[in-house]
Parts: sequence; C-alpha cells; structure tokens
Amino acid sequence: MEQGSIPSPHILIFPAQGQGHVNATLKLAELLSLAGFKITFINFQYVHERLVRNTDVEARFSKYHGFQFKTIPVCRPDDPQRTERWRKLSVKSKPIFKRMVIESKPTVNYIIGDGVLGFVHDVAVEIGIPAIQMHCLSACSFWTFFSIPDVVAAHQLPIKGIPTIICHPFLNDLFIPFNCITYGSNLLKLKGKEDMDRLITKVPGMETFLRCRDLPAGFCQVSDISDPNLFFITNEIRKSQALIINTFEELEGPILSQIRTRYSKIYTIGPLHEHLKTKLRSIGKQELYSSSNSLWKVDGTCITWLDNQPSQSVLYVSFGSSTIVTRDQLMEFWYGLVNSKKKFLWVIRPESVINQDGDNLGEIPEELQEGGKERGYVVKWAPQEEVLAHKAIGGFLTHSGWNSTLESIAAGVPMICWPYFGDQQVNSRYVSEIWKLGLDMKDVCDRRVVEKMVNDLMVDRREEYVKSTARMQELARKSVSEDGSSSCCLNRLIEDIRLMNK
Ligand code: UDX
Repeated sequence: MEQGSIPSPHILIFPAQGQGHVNATLKLAELLSLAGFKITFINFQYVHERLVRNTDVEARFSKYHGFQFKTIPVCRPDDPQRTERWRKLSVKSKPIFKRMVIESKPTVNYIIGDGVLGFVHDVAVEIGIPAIQMHCLSACSFWTFFSIPDVVAAHQLPIKGIPTIICHPFLNDLFIPFNCITYGSNLLKLKGKEDMDRLITKVPGMETFLRCRDLPAGFCQVSDISDPNLFFITNEIRKSQALIINTFEELEGPILSQIRTRYSKIYTIGPLHEHLKTKLRSIGKQELYSSSNSLWKVDGTCITWLDNQPSQSVLYVSFGSSTIVTRDQLMEFWYGLVNSKKKFLWVIRPESVINQDGDNLGEIPEELQEGGKERGYVVKWAPQEEVLAHKAIGGFLTHSGWNSTLESIAAGVPMICWPYFGDQQVNSRYVSEIWKLGLDMKDVCDRRVVEKMVNDLMVDRREEYVKSTARMQELARKSVSEDGSSSCCLNRLIEDIRLMNK
C-alpha cells in the first residue's frame, strides 16, 4: 500500500530468539503490515528453521504485500558462561546484520530491534537510520532492570546468604543465552533466607513492596556485585531514546509514569495478540488471525479433551519455553495437583526435565503420563491462546513469562505464579500484590503449597479472583478498541514513522 506518491517506509524488525519474543514481535510486524509498511522480519536462522518447521508462518505472511523474512546465519556459541554466550552471539551477528541493512533493497527507513538485542540498535545508530527498541517485557520489569544501577549505588545489593546458582549445561537447543538454573530447589536449601525478604527501595514506584526475592533471578539476585549478569540486561535495554512496550496504560499506568520521567516517547501497544485480533476483526479479515507462531509442534488434542470438561473446572499448567525443572520439582507439582483434586491440563516439554545431576531425562516421567489419564491431560506443547480462552479453564499455573501473563489477563483467567528467571520474578509480584490477579508461589516448590494455592484459586478465594480478572480483562479489551489507549499509541507510532520519512 502506498501513501500517495510517497513509497511506504521499509521497516526492519529483529526479535530475540525466545518464543515469547518471536511471538509478540511477529504480531507487531503484522499490525504494521496492515498499516501499509513494507516489513523485513529478521530471525536468527536456527530460530526461523524451527518456526517454519512447526507453523505455516511463511504462507500466512505471504498475504501481506511487501513482507519478507530474512535470517542471520549464526551458530549458537557454546561458552559455558551465559552472558559471555550472549556477547559472542552479538559480536558474530552484528557485522552480518550491518551488511544486510546497508545492502538492503529497498532501503531501510526504520529499525525496530528487540530491547534485549542491544547490537541491533547500535547498528542503526552507526548507519544513521532511525530506530527504536521494542520490549517484550512488562513495564514493571523493564523499570526494575533500568533502575539496578541506583539499587547498587545505594548498597542494596548484593544479597546476603544467597547460594551460587548451580548451572547445568543448557538443554534446550533454542535459547543460547540461558543456562538451566535449578532455581526453586536451590532456594529451598538457602540458609540466609531472611535477606530475600529485605525491601529494595531504590526502584521508584516500588519502594514498599519489591523484595530481594522479587528481583530478576539469574541476573540481579547476586551474591557479588562483580557478577557479570548483574548489569547485563540493563545495558542492553537502555540504548534507545524511545520505547515500544507490549503492555497497556490501564494495567501499568503508575510505572509508566515513572518511566516517562526518563523517556519522552513511549508507545504502549499491548496486549499485542488481542490488539491484532481486534484490528483484523474491525477490517473483516479475522480469518487471517493465527495465534500460532510456535517453535514447537502444537498438540491440539487437548482442546477436544477440554470440550468434555465442566466450565471453569480445569487448571492449565505451563512454564513456557525455557523453564527447566528437576524431576523432584516436577513430582512436587504432580502431587500438589493430584491432591488438590482439581483437573489439569499440563504442558511438559520433554527436554525441560532434568535429574539431580543435571542430565536431561528426555521424556515425561511415566507415572505422570499414566496418572495424567485420570486426573488430567499432559501435552508437549499446547495452543495456549485457545486453551486460555476455553470455557473449561478456571486458572493458570504459570512461570509468569510476560506473554503468558498478558494472554491470561486478556482471557480473564486468574493465575498461580511460579516464576523461573529474569522478568518473571517482578511480573509475579505485580500479579499477586498489585493487580490482585492471583497468587505468587515464588521460590517455593512444595506439594502442600501447590495443593493449597490450587484450592485457594479454584475454590476458596475464587469469587475475589474472578472479579478482579474480569475487570482487568475488560480494561485490556478497551485498550485495543478503536479509541483505546493502545490503539491510540499504535496510531501515533505509525504516524511518527511516516513523518520521519517524509
Ligand atoms: C521469555 C521469557 O521467559 C519471558 O519471561 C519474557 O517475558 C519473554 O521471553 P517464554 O518463556 O517464552 O518467554 O514465556 P512467555 O513470554 O510467556 O511466552 C511463551 C509463549 O509461548 C506464549 O505466547 C504462549 O502462548 C506460547 N505457548 C506456551 C504456546 O503456544 N504453547 C505452550 O504450550 C506454551
């Protein structure tokens, strides 16, 4: 689509390699295609190969005029240190990406780089192309990462008594940057546990409720401030002068006000999946909507199983795309779920389960598969958006990844949070303490706690959670409606990109 005689600007979009990042960024790409921009969507090659293997993504996007996929052919670095692997990936990818931008035809007019891929923004600055960082994180976790230098300056880090986290070789062939952190089980053995309850008062807007245990695990929960992970994300996310965030004003208004003290331009355009669905519906093209940008093969049989369950009776359990659990942790969840007597639909990626020595079990333990037939249903990967929207679902036991959290909010489903790492610790604190949309199990992994929380969410405190989630669901929908806050922000972003290219 051309605007008068001026050719449509060409936007280059580059997500990080996680499922949540690819998913959200593709939805933004689709919204910008609908606005008439030419889009080049760049993926690391090994990510794109998985995307193509498991979805019809190339056929789907071929319907958009001027849309193309390109890949960066890098191998996954194998350095045992997590941030070092990430750094090596950036060093290898940067010159390839830079050449791609310089040689691009048509000329690139604008670059949207994932907030955690700082090198994308660096390339834009070096070549002199307008660019912005897109954050697939919540505003509250963005702000926490942003504020870490002030936390350190006030001597609120390191945390006393925190153990050195045991890292196993990474088992998932997708996510280079993350070592497997057997996090929950480590904390159970913590001696100086009381320091984890200490308040962190140097993240503006969170002075009264952010504890050490709510800081991003694997990055900011450090025993030593020379830990290379501590400032790693902070340095990546602080590159651009303006931000796109997959969130909405009604959910994160107070923290967005804090962020506005440092940034003059913030485009809050989420929840992106709901936004895209609404936009396609409004132009009569709802059949184009597909929730599936999955890097795993989706098992749709669970929907038939859900069809036969009573309304709001099933707990959906999924820890997203990169959580690793020990067999012991898995069994604690299993007993907790079975003892709660509630039915469940559980996503277990076989490569996500390890034994005490850190070796991958490679399969779902047998007793779980067998027992699952009676109490619930176990799949390797589910059509999550459809599952959460299903009338049989009454709750979501989640790792608090940001996409999962937004999808749960948009579907009006209350949550039990078991955050694994990074932004998830902050998200889960907000879900329970600020938004009152569920319960935060945090770093506990105990069958009695699981059983109690499931019963609290599904029975004893159900009314309270149903009320608060319904209210937030309504606000989420409003935000993406024609005059809603997220729609207005997206229109402003589209307008600003066009103005830059006049
Ligand atoms: C990663 C980080 O873990 C997360 O904290 C950050 O906010 C984004 O990147 P991930 O583990 O992939 O996220 O979790 P999340 O953000 O929740 O995204 C998972 C996506 O996979 C969701 O869109 C969800 O719908 C989808 N999914 C998950 C499926 O389609 N099927 C499944 O069985 C499980």
